[in-house]
Amino acid sequence: MNNKIQIAEKSFWVGKVDDRPVPFHRLILEKGTTYNSYLLETEKPTLIDTVDISFGVEFVKKLSENFDLNTLKYVVINHVEPDHAGALPALMSKAKNAVIVTTEKAKEFLNGMFKLHNREYLIIKDGDTLDIGGKTLKFFQVPYLHTEETMITYSIEDKVLYPCDIFSTHIATYKLFNDLASEDITEDFKVYYSLIMASHRPYVREMLHKLKDIEINIIAPAHGFILRNNAKKFIDLYDKMSLKNASNKKALILYTSMTGNTGKIANDIYEGLTDSGIEARIINAKTSSIDVVKEMAAESDIIVIGSSTRYGDMIGNIEAYIKEIVSMDLSSKYGFAFGSYGWSGEAIEIINDYLKQSNINLLDSTKIIKATGENDLHLPLRINFYDNAKKVTSVNTGKMAAEFIV
Ligand code: FEO
Repeated sequence: MNNKIQIAEKSFWVGKVDDRPVPFHRLILEKGTTYNSYLLETEKPTLIDTVDISFGVEFVKKLSENFDLNTLKYVVINHVEPDHAGALPALMSKAKNAVIVTTEKAKEFLNGMFKLHNREYLIIKDGDTLDIGGKTLKFFQVPYLHTEETMITYSIEDKVLYPCDIFSTHIATYKLFNDLASEDITEDFKVYYSLIMASHRPYVREMLHKLKDIEINIIAPAHGFILRNNAKKFIDLYDKMSLKNASNKKALILYTSMTGNTGKIANDIYEGLTDSGIEARIINAKTSSIDVVKEMAAESDIIVIGSSTRYGDMIGNIEAYIKEIVSMDLSSKYGFAFGSYGWSGEAIEIINDYLKQSNINLLDSTKIIKATGENDLHLPLRINFYDNAKKVTSVNTGKMAAEFIV
């Protein structure tokens, strides 16, 4: 089977079709998949992404049948997961002169996984360009689509976008172009989005914003179909699927604060939730009755409770409010605890324990990592004292919580 398929002038698919049922993110891809790697045979030949680690040796062997690997100038790594960067060690052992083009975070990961410390890297920042002799590549950092280090590559002259996982489909086929597909691929495209991208919705919005002023004729992703017929339709689908639908969703933020720091965190969470379209109410337990708070809790889809810590405990009257709330049926709601602290922050853990004892869907770090891949937000939210540099964490926590109900 042809292992070199032209997609644009001097640009070729050189990937691998994997027609096995492929284990993937705790699923089995019954239709298989492809690992799309692209060779740009310009004056400074450049490879964009590789293939799955299981096919590394085969990939390099086939590539070298049609191409002198000693002439390879750049290897662009958009994303480090082993289904795309996995063949890099095998490749670099033959491509002695190649420079790895990637983000700073990806370099860290590559060195951790493959020990490529001795190779030359070109570190990319958002918006950088690279002249590869006859084509110019432009790079956009798109963190969390779907992992932290990710970037995408755009070939300016021929208007080809190489977005790695983004805009992919999982299907094993040598009829690689969407206009050659034997049936409509829209459903497969949407399923892929819902499995891999949907939980990163805010980052999809940021990525679409970055791409909005560039003309894209062909989308050449890392799995499945190359979208050369009506690429705009697929960008529009991402736009539509990533629109939030937070209408009628409500949140309650209940807190007590000793010096005002926990109140500031409450305000930040409020900002994150309302930015995400959630109607949030913020209540200082000092100033509202239990009955009003219970009514708000009953109406809310997210309940967030915080307290400062004094002498190893919560402050003020908030415990009475919490006892009432956790005795309610909270099975359809999400929640988490937060607070500012100076020493050990026991109040946050006590609130967390109360929520654990209820039937609320308690948001914790495990759930966040599994749902979004983000490992820099931690729940319960514990902020040591408070300063403006910490604001971004609590605002983002509010945004992340909103994602669970939109
Ligand atoms: Fe296709 Fe995130 O790997």
